[in-house]
Amino acid sequence: MSDSIPSPVLLLARLKSPISAITAYDYPTARLCDEAGIQLILVGDSLGMVVCGLPDTTSVTLDQIVYHTEMVRRGVRHAILVADLPIHSYDTPVQALESSRRLSRAGADAVKLEGGFGQLEKISHITDAGIAVCAHIGMLPQRVREEGGYKKKGKSEAEAEELVRAAVALEKAGAFAIVLESIVPSVAASITAAVSIPTIGIGAGSACSGQIRVLHDVIGSYPWFVPPFAKVHGNVAEVTGKALAAYLAEIEEGL
Ligand code: KIV
Repeated sequence: MSDSIPSPVLLLARLKSPISAITAYDYPTARLCDEAGIQLILVGDSLGMVVCGLPDTTSVTLDQIVYHTEMVRRGVRHAILVADLPIHSYDTPVQALESSRRLSRAGADAVKLEGGFGQLEKISHITDAGIAVCAHIGMLPQRVREEGGYKKKGKSEAEAEELVRAAVALEKAGAFAIVLESIVPSVAASITAAVSIPTIGIGAGSACSGQIRVLHDVIGSYPWFVPPFAKVHGNVAEVTGKALAAYLAEIEEGL
């Protein structure tokens, strides 16, 4: 696997407005996303939920993201491949860089981490070493336990102002893009206007530079829970159920 990651400038040149982004966790789905023309593919720590069946992302490990990044790398030829730094893999700037190097060696073009002002030094440390970083503000799934649930951000004026200031600081620290998760749409619009790097929204309205979704929500392969903002465009769970029913019938009929 490559140790050299494209610079933020090169990554930005590959993103065209409106940016299309989605998660993928394995070779076949990554290849399907890439061949469909998705511009950015994220090996998200959401894999803890939609792949591993865990209640949230807070027990996903760096080893797991490395493993899935290697699979996804084999399927991606055109898209930018971003890998999540999972919880506790970036508690200090030194650890953040070590973890980012592992993801780079697994094939990531960039890494993503959650948080605002508390992450500025880590972002500078990673980008100074030549690894591109995508930031992530708003609702932070890695903090869902501390916060007691998935809550919309930017509802009060103070929170909205802080989000805008954090985004400006993240750009200054070297982030090449920012994911805006579950943010009041007018606040996401203000953030997008305040920075010159792209914003990629999820549950943050249409005034972002692009959108990202969890693959399973888009293709309908995780029917047990669908977030309210997600539009389901496929029925993979139903198609799979029908194929399995046909297979069972075939066995019962003696082939
Ligand atoms: O882990 C993930 O899937 C994410 C996206 C929802 C942005 O961080």
